[in-house]
Amino acid sequence: IYASDNPKLLSGKNVLITAGGTIEDIDPVRYISNRSTGKMGYALADVAVKQGANVTLISANCHLQVPENINFIKVKTSDELKNSILTKLPKNDVLIMAAAVSDFKPVHVAKQKIKKSDDSNELVLHLQKTDDILKLVADQKKANQVIIGFAAETNDVKRNAKLKLEKKHLDFIVLNDVSNQKIGFGSDDNQVTIMNKNGILKQTGIESKEKIAKTIINVIKQQLD
Ligand code: CTP
Ligand code: CA
Repeated sequence: IYASDNPKLLSGKNVLITAGGTIEDIDPVRYISNRSTGKMGYALADVAVKQGANVTLISANCHLQVPENINFIKVKTSDELKNSILTKLPKNDVLIMAAAVSDFKPVHVAKQKIKKSDDSNELVLHLQKTDDILKLVADQKKANQVIIGFAAETNDVKRNAKLKLEKKHLDFIVLNDVSNQKIGFGSDDNQVTIMNKNGILKQTGIESKEKIAKTIINVIKQQLD
């Protein structure tokens, strides 16, 4: 028996991945959400399981084929996503937070459909901030856990990503420049910059989300060593 030249990168590791965009109800027929389709998170789950990880994928409003041999959890709201992560995190070595979490939710969800009024041309929705899940996670993080966040930015992209990395106490941040229409939301391709507190670790070209996922998993592997 020979040792493999190419052992699986994440054998025996427990990896928690979030994907998709959360939904916050306004009333029985309307909601607030975002353009995330979950492709990046699903690609990460696919690569991680093929690299031997025990993968839990928490999926918010995705309409994609679920990768085989993973633990699959479906959620809707940012609160459901938060609770699911906080339950699962203690048993995981890695959290990859690819989900696009709604930053605001209605203060009250109307039980009945909100009707138009003849008296006004405006509707004011009263929104409140959702919990910042990565900030909550930072407080519970164990020394050997690796936490990866994503940053969707349109301007001052590297500076904003660095600020997020520091504010959320992340090990890595994967920066997406969403001002480029050809990549990012819904696209099969992406282009990312992976940063840690010391600066830029990796800058990819425009590549398939599968290839980007492999690059991200490689960076995680090195951190776990
Ligand atoms: N995130 C989170 N909880 C939230 C909002 C975002 O955990 N309530 C996570 C996202 O999953 C992502 C990272 O934080 O991994 C950065 O998300 P992003 O939307 O880019 O940043 P925000 O901190 O929400 O700041 P803003 O949207 O104002 O740029
Ligand atoms: Ca946000």
